[in-house]
Amino acid sequence: MERLFLLCSGLLVTTVTSQHNVCSRPELHNNIETAGFQRFFSPGVELALSCKQGYTPVLGPRKIVCTINGQWTSTKLKCIPKQCPYPDLITNGELSYEETHYQSLINYTCHEGYIMTGSSSAVCQANGTWSSPAPECIPVSCGLAPVPLYGMVIYNKVVRGSTTDYGLTAQYICNPPYALFGNPVAECTAAGTWTEAPECQVVTCPPPENIERGYMSNNENREFFFKETVKYDCESPYVLEGSLEAVCLETGKWSEKPSCKAPCSVNIQKGRILYKGKKVWIEDFQPNRVYHQEVVSVYCMNKAMNCGYAVSTQCIDGILKIPACFEEPGGVEYTLKPNSLPSEIDQC
Ligand SMILES: *[C@@H]1O[C@H](CO)[C@@H](O)[C@H](O)[C@H]1NC(C)=O
Ligand SMILES: *[C@@H]1O[C@H](CO)[C@@H](O)[C@H](O)[C@H]1NC(C)=O
Repeated sequence: MERLFLLCSGLLVTTVTSQHNVCSRPELHNNIETAGFQRFFSPGVELALSCKQGYTPVLGPRKIVCTINGQWTSTKLKCIPKQCPYPDLITNGELSYEETHYQSLINYTCHEGYIMTGSSSAVCQANGTWSSPAPECIPVSCGLAPVPLYGMVIYNKVVRGSTTDYGLTAQYICNPPYALFGNPVAECTAAGTWTEAPECQVVTCPPPENIERGYMSNNENREFFFKETVKYDCESPYVLEGSLEAVCLETGKWSEKPSCKAPCSVNIQKGRILYKGKKVWIEDFQPNRVYHQEVVSVYCMNKAMNCGYAVSTQCIDGILKIPACFEEPGGVEYTLKPNSLPSEIDQC
C-alpha cells in the first residue's frame, strides 16, 4: 500500500490509499473538525469543515472534495481562538492574565484589607465572554472603635454609620484629670479588628513643694490632678531659672520645678567695671550686686601694646569669676595715677 502525505497549507494532512481511488478520512489538525465518523469517501464527495468550539474560521474554502485520484482538495482554512474583551482593572485589587482568547484565565486578588466578593478567576469561554464578571474588593470593616471610659475617639476620616474601613485610625483623648495609658492611636487592621485601645485613668500628684528662696501660687495642701499647674517665683534678689510653672504629669509626678539663683557681687576693691553699657568705679557700684546670668566686664592691660581691654564675666548662681588677666592696682597708683589704669588708657 502506497501512502501519500499531502500538506495543505500546513494545516490539513491527508492520507490517501491510491489503489481504490477513494479518500480516507482526513486527519484534521489545528482545531479544524468535520462531522460524522465515515472512514472512506468516494471521489466527488464533499466534506464540510468547521472550527471546534471556541474557534473562528478564517480563509477557506470551508469544504474539501475527494478527487478522482483519491486525494482531498486543499484549503487554507484556519481556526483562530475567539477573543474575549480585555478585562477592566479592579479597584483595590489586581488581576493577572497572559492572553485574552478562548480558555485564557484571569486571576483576581484583592489588596490587603479588602475582601473579595465574586469569583477570583474567570475563563474566556467558547462564545467570547468571560465566565464570570470581575469581582469587587470591599474594604474590611472593623465596626466602631471601642471608647474608653472617660475618654473619646477622633477618627482620621469621617465615619458614617457604624462601619469603619481597614486603615482607619482612631486617636484617643482622655478628659483630664484622667490620663491616657497605652497607645493613643488605634487602627482598623486587615483582620477586621481594632488594635488595643488605651485606658483613661485618674492621675494625681502629691501636694506641690515649694522651691528654696521662692514661693508658689498655690499653697493648698492637697493632691493635685493630672494637668493641674502651680506657678513659682523667687524672692528678690534671687532669679528664677527654668519653667515658671510645674504641671502634674501623667506619671503622677510634677514636671521639673524652677530654681532660684543667687546674685553675685563683683569682688574687686579698686578699678572700674562695665555694667549694662556703663563704666562705673567699683566704689560707686551700690549695691554691689549683679543678678544671676548678668554680665559685667573688668579691664585688663595689654602690656606689650600698652592698651586696655574689657573682659566680660557672667554671674552664675552667686559666683562671678574675676578674669585672671585682671590686676588689682596698688593703692598709690589708684589714687595718684588713675589715668594710667587699663580702663582709662587707650583701648586695644
Ligand atoms: C492563576 O491561578 C492559577 C491557580 O492558582 C495558576 O495556575 C495560574 O498560573 C494563574 N494564572 C495567571 C495568569 O496568573
Ligand atoms: C456564553 O456561554 C456561556 C457558557 O456556555 C453562557 O452561560 C453565556 O450565556 C453565553 N453568553 C452569550 C452572550 O452567549
